[in-house]
Amino acid sequence: MSRTILRGRVLTFVSEPRGLDDTESYRFFEDGMIAIADGKVVSTGDYDAAAIGDAEVIDHRPHLILPGFIDMHLHYVQSQMIASYAGSLLEWLSTYTFVEEQKFSQQGHAGAVAAAFYDELIRNGTTTAVAYCSSHPRSVDAFFGEAEKRNMLMVGGKVMMDRNAPEALCDTAQSGYDDTKMLIERWHGRGRGLYAISPRFAITSTPEQLDASRALVAEHPECYVQTHLSENAAEITFSMELYPNSPDYTGIYEDYGLLGRKTLLGHCIHLNHRETHVLAETGSVAVFCPTSNLFLGSGLFDRERLAKSGVRIGVATDIGGGTSYGMLQTMDEAYKILQLRGQRLTPLNSFYMMTLGNARSLSLEGTIGTIAPGCAADLVVLDAAATPAMKLRMETVETLVEELFLLQTLGDDRSIAEVYVAGAKAKSTLGGL
Ligand code: GUN
Ligand code: ZN
Repeated sequence: MSRTILRGRVLTFVSEPRGLDDTESYRFFEDGMIAIADGKVVSTGDYDAAAIGDAEVIDHRPHLILPGFIDMHLHYVQSQMIASYAGSLLEWLSTYTFVEEQKFSQQGHAGAVAAAFYDELIRNGTTTAVAYCSSHPRSVDAFFGEAEKRNMLMVGGKVMMDRNAPEALCDTAQSGYDDTKMLIERWHGRGRGLYAISPRFAITSTPEQLDASRALVAEHPECYVQTHLSENAAEITFSMELYPNSPDYTGIYEDYGLLGRKTLLGHCIHLNHRETHVLAETGSVAVFCPTSNLFLGSGLFDRERLAKSGVRIGVATDIGGGTSYGMLQTMDEAYKILQLRGQRLTPLNSFYMMTLGNARSLSLEGTIGTIAPGCAADLVVLDAAATPAMKLRMETVETLVEELFLLQTLGDDRSIAEVYVAGAKAKSTLGGL
């Protein structure tokens, strides 16, 4: 069994930081090593020259090595419409999104976009993402096919939508069910792929389709469920007109049996007390999408209220409503949103959220999100002096926490020095670099 050893400044979290002084929440090895074999971490700790043997050593000093970033919500099929000028959510969806996603009916389109999308994820240090594909099964084939080629752990699914969208994009309750069933058979558990049953949101699903979704969830408890919840005021009003018998927006998904520990709910900005309580009770995950929430003017996520109520939280880019593929920029905007709310997000908590926090929200702790024996060697190497401005600032940085905050605030894809996917170099081997 051939071993590779990465040498560098290794940082991994073991629990959610309770503040800036919570040194128990992470392990940090200033001159550290990660031994890798068969795509997994074998051991980690202080660098020990005596333990090298015949292993290949790759020296990343003075860079930090962390678990690869995890993105809990994005739409890979929106890669060519990111940065589209619009007012708010519903206008943006009908003007750009539903037009763009129709292109995925064409042969060859999905494959080309998927390849470019994965390159961009890797360029930004993201090794796992949870994605919405379009309503066309071929977009799912392209998504998982490309992940398989790259040996990446990816979660995704065909969006189900059978009303309030152009006809060319709509499925039916029956065809959405049948296609989802077929795609679960084809992709869930193949390679590192995991399937997410994906009714888009209440507005674009009839009660019949939510019924079909309920059946899929009951028949496939091994799969994730993803949808959107409480992003925008007009969206909430329209949803309640369509489902007048439900007590509130969350109640719609609750009534159709769609909530649970594998349910990932994008946005969750305008929840009432009852809704927050239901999310906590069911273990459903509220996914914070900061750049998207700012770009579409959707509102300010209330992390403190949700966390205090016991709601599980994830964080995500929401490409293409979101404006960056990078989790560093995403956390930069998360920090600013919470500033506006009068809430603090420590740099330790930011890096926890992108790694172990999101792994926990996906119930994948022990598989990804930490550097520990048995975990996948999905890793990111970070250069906090990647640009002249960062280099200048680094001259005055004295602590690890300051360095992390600098990476979050000024960092972008240039700060991602290398990425490993299942132990193999993924960034420096990208074409065109
Ligand atoms: N709600 C339903 N679909 C979408 C989408 O594609 N993006 C965002 N941000 N919200 C949605
Ligand atoms: Zn979304």
